[in-house]
Amino acid sequence: DALAGRFPLSANPHPATDAERAQALTDLHFGRVFTDHMAHARWTRADGWGDYGIVPFDDLTLSPAAAVLHYAQEIFEGIKAYRHDDGSIWTFRPRYNAARLNLSARRMAIPELPEDDFIASLVDLVRTDADWVPSGEGESLYLRPFAFASEAFLGVHAASTIDYYVIASPSGAYFTHGLQPISIWVAQDYHRAGRGGTGFAKTGGNYASSLLPQEEADARGCDQVCFLDDVTEKNLEELGGMNVMVVDADGTVRTPRLTGTILEGNTRSAIIRLLQDSGRRVVEETIPLEGLLEDISSGKVREVFACGTAAVVVPLGRLKGEGFDVSIEGSEVTHEIYERLTGIQYGRLEDPYNWMY
Ligand code: COI
Repeated sequence: DALAGRFPLSANPHPATDAERAQALTDLHFGRVFTDHMAHARWTRADGWGDYGIVPFDDLTLSPAAAVLHYAQEIFEGIKAYRHDDGSIWTFRPRYNAARLNLSARRMAIPELPEDDFIASLVDLVRTDADWVPSGEGESLYLRPFAFASEAFLGVHAASTIDYYVIASPSGAYFTHGLQPISIWVAQDYHRAGRGGTGFAKTGGNYASSLLPQEEADARGCDQVCFLDDVTEKNLEELGGMNVMVVDADGTVRTPRLTGTILEGNTRSAIIRLLQDSGRRVVEETIPLEGLLEDISSGKVREVFACGTAAVVVPLGRLKGEGFDVSIEGSEVTHEIYERLTGIQYGRLEDPYNWMY
């Protein structure tokens, strides 16, 4: 409540009718339906952050010279709001996202947004569009905060005008087959990020560079692409839009260590904590693809899973690449961690960490 009201509401004269909203909330997929409002703020070099408001969701008016369209000075976040059985609405560790937005902002020469203002933008938007938070199994309101260079200027310089928005999308599962194992294409000709680049920042360019390899994955019948590091071209980094973890037969869970080219996921970090507190050994280390393939064949590795805000937790059932195609049978720990994490997020389990806000 202390933060509520920082983004004053300009009411939408044409919100969806109850019937339209009910229709929009049936058969939800990921990121296709949007609510009635969005949060907005603008930064200018002269005046800093201002113009805070909740405004009707609408198309943006942007100069064709807006710097973001040319040089991709942009950052974003992904965070979900969950409806609990008593009707209340909760987000998961929003301060993690606030801090990461600013980590990305520093790398992309975008001004930091005060953490409290980030939280306030979520609070005011979710309160305004609370009726849009779905309550079906595995559904949530996916919040997408983002900021970009809106200045009309073609010089290659950090912009003097930045617009920040939060849009909200009632969403179902990212993968349409839910907790069914997904298949992975390991890209060997492309990398997602390089040393000293922007891999650790949540910025559109990292995802743009994943799109062609993702098309390659689609063409091979795979759900997601997996990237290797750009230096040795041997070690696992992350998937197109989520982190990856490996479960050994002895119960140890391993995940690629953060090298600067990997995005540190909120879900990744929460899962590491949950696993450690349940007595498991968790190791952040270099994971060579070749060793992983051998360990899957020998049974030393039992499970591999992906994790992210949008994807939650999903088992990998198959790893394919030039010259290999291996199946992974196990998913016991993956299911355990899915239940524990979503239990906290949806209020079915106690939240000893105070993660829910
Ligand atoms: C998320 O998991 O929220 C992401 O931002 C990944 C993605 C859908 C690009």
